[in-house]
This record gives sequence, C-alpha cells and structure tokens, in this order.
Amino acid sequence: MISELTPFDHKYTFQMRAEKLNFAPTIIWMYGMSGAGKSTLASELDYFLNTSGFNSSVLDGDTVRQGLCKDLSFSKKDREENIRRVGELTKNMYLAGNIVIGTFITPFETTRETLREIFSGLNAYFVYVKCDLEECESRDPKGLYIKARKGEISNFTGIDSPFDEPENVDLVLNTTTATLKESFEDLKKFTLNKVEKDKG
Ligand code: ADX
Repeated sequence: MISELTPFDHKYTFQMRAEKLNFAPTIIWMYGMSGAGKSTLASELDYFLNTSGFNSSVLDGDTVRQGLCKDLSFSKKDREENIRRVGELTKNMYLAGNIVIGTFITPFETTRETLREIFSGLNAYFVYVKCDLEECESRDPKGLYIKARKGEISNFTGIDSPFDEPENVDLVLNTTTATLKESFEDLKKFTLNKVEKDKG
C-alpha cells in the first residue's frame, strides 16, 4: 500500500452528478456458474433499461478477460485479482452516473466479501443466477464443460475448481427451475425498484 497518495476532491461531486439524472446509479452484480444464464439475462436487462430511459452498461468476464484482465488466469489468486479489478472499474462507472451490470462467475465467498467492501455505501446488489451443474453442463453454450471433462482445460468452475454456495444474496434467480422469461421478469422488477429515483 502506498501511503503518499492524496485523492483529489473534485468540485463536481457524485451527488451533483446523480441529482441531474432521472434514475439512481446502481450496481447489479450477477454471478453464478458458466452456462447459468448470466449474460443472457444481463443483456435483456441492459436492453430493457436503455430503451426505457435509463443508462446502463454490461461488464462481463469473457470481454474483460480479453483486455483489462488479459494477464490473468483462472487460478484462485488470479480470479481474486480479476474480481478486485473489475469491482474497482464497476465502482468508477457507477460514480460516473451509470447503472452497471456485472456478469462474472465470482466463485469464492472471500472475493464476494472484497466486492462488498469496494461497493460499501453504494447502491449495489448481488444477484445469484443459480443453476445445477448438470443443467449448465447439458447446455454447455461455449463447449467448455466438455473440454474440461476431457482435461483439455483445467481449473474449470464446477469441474476441478470450486463454486462456493452464496451466503448473502439480494436476489436468487433459479434458472434450472424457472424459464428465462420468468427469471427476467423477476430481475426486471427487482432492478426497477432499485433504479427508480428515491427508491434505491
Ligand atoms: S471469475 O471466476 O474470475 O469470476 P470470469 O467471469 O471472469 O471468471 O470468466 C469466466 C468466463 O471465462 C466463462 O464464462 C468462460 O467462458 C471462460 N472460461 C475460460 N476458462 C475458464 C475456467 N477455467 N473456469 C471458468 N470459466 C472459464
């Protein structure tokens, strides 16, 4: 930790920025296993929000890992660093006056704790996109589970890398039992309640 740092107090504050918006800046952190439906639901939510008078954007693991985090692997240490970095980026996007939807596996409870610290005091929520391993594996949208089973990729979440069952969640979307439409309706209702001004 470098102690000789003094963050500048900018004249145009977050409160001033937020006041001129007709919605509340919000963080919706969607996490769960690969194939659970995080990106699909996030994309629907993002589309809905942006076509309904809100400003939102999605940050997702596959994209961020091609740029900002391309130096990181899927080891525990690197996953922790991945989430710390994208958590800080998410906070910056939020402070700029956006609704930020993060979609990352976020497999470790310790890392979720780090995120809670980064997001402390912000209008931020954790949405667990829950899906059985068997179901994720049968969907296998990117063909990664089959590769992991064959041993062609290692440290794959659910196969040879753990996913901690969450302890502290604001919303659970069980995509094994509910349809995509039902999960989206729940997500939309939850999010609208947080982004509408003076409700968050
Ligand atoms: S996290 O664990 O650090 O939160 P993140 O969400 O960024 O993961 O990246 C997950 C995405 O990377 C998956 O959607 C998948 O497409 C891809 N991926 C590649 N290798 C792995 C792996 N070993 N484990 C999980 N996902 C992987």
